[in-house]
Amino acid sequence: MNIAILGATGMVGREMIKVLEERDFPVTSLRLLASARSVGVKIPFHGKEIQVEEAKETSFEGMDIVFGAVSNAMAKNFAPFIVDAGATFIDNSSAFRMISNVPLVVPEINPEDAYKHHGIIANPNCSTIIAMVALYPIHRRYNIENVVACTYQAVSGAGQEGMAELVRQIEASVSGEVSEAKVFPLPIAYNVIPKIGSEEENGYTTEEMKMRNEGRKILHAHELSVNCTCVRVPVLRSHSIALTVKTSGIPDLDIIRQDWSTAQGIGRLPEGRNYPTPLDTSDQDLVMVGRLRQDLNDPQHSVSFWCCGDQIRKGAATNAIQIAELFINPS
Ligand SMILES: NC(=O)c1ccc[n+]([C@@H]2O[C@H](COP(=O)([O-])OP(=O)(O)OC[C@H]3O[C@@H](n4cnc5c(N)ncnc54)[C@H](OP(=O)(O)O)[C@@H]3O)[C@@H](O)[C@H]2O)c1
Repeated sequence: MNIAILGATGMVGREMIKVLEERDFPVTSLRLLASARSVGVKIPFHGKEIQVEEAKETSFEGMDIVFGAVSNAMAKNFAPFIVDAGATFIDNSSAFRMISNVPLVVPEINPEDAYKHHGIIANPNCSTIIAMVALYPIHRRYNIENVVACTYQAVSGAGQEGMAELVRQIEASVSGEVSEAKVFPLPIAYNVIPKIGSEEENGYTTEEMKMRNEGRKILHAHELSVNCTCVRVPVLRSHSIALTVKTSGIPDLDIIRQDWSTAQGIGRLPEGRNYPTPLDTSDQDLVMVGRLRQDLNDPQHSVSFWCCGDQIRKGAATNAIQIAELFINPS
């Protein structure tokens, strides 16, 4: 397939190049696109160096799939040209996720939706993907009616600049200096910030509303009640989420553990531990789950648990490439 990556020099774009190579995706040609600043940058792929080009309206001719790893504004700007060129746009931004004729796909959950696309397929929000992979086996067996989620999100969720800001602030503090906050609203070193995205009229942030709205769309559960609090933490990579879910069935903890052990996309915990940490899930594709227990406030119908996943891989790059793989071997 002829593939282009729009935003190839960013956090997600660079990971996509690695994942395409690791999964031996059938790439006939690979075009790497970014801003004019990155023209001439060389990125290795399968033993060759590919030069980054400036993304232009004409860059998508002859492409089969364009992976989007740019801002909402850039995705909206280039999408019409990608679709007109006849390519399928698999986009990581939130620009198109809630548009009714744009499928929002987690391949472990709703792969069939991908085939209903009209040129654009959206990759869900990173925390939402990780939470949905973890809770889907419970939903399938016991029907989840209500979700309460608290996220602990890594700085790389805000791209390369977010990661650089944490490192800069830690280095500055070690040498007795102060490095001001630019990407995040407050210092993130040695701190946590309970606000990701902008605040809406209802008091929730845009990031929190993604878990609710996108979760419902992915699960085809339009009545699902979701209450989410998103928190930025000084972790470089991998998001963590504490979840409490209420089901209409009566959940059995052993059956949930058994279902998790065979579920697609869920990995084994490190030996001797009943919970994962962000370091366990970084640089790989599996979500890990643990700390499963009854909710003491509603022991018959609700359970609480913890999960972690690499938001740059399963939360973005890998999920997008898994969507593309659905078109190599359609089931
Ligand atoms: N980071 C995550 O964990 C994560 C997870 C899920 C989804 N996402 C989403 O994925 C998208 C990319 O995020 P990221 O974290 O990879 O951001 P990033 O590290 O800041 O990278 C942004 C990319 O956009 C490119 N770009 C900027 N202006 C451009 C222009 N005018 N024309 C073409 N390309 C341009 C940049 O190219 P230059 O290097 O040339 O500036 C760079 O390749 C965002 O929509 C984000 O919300 C991110």
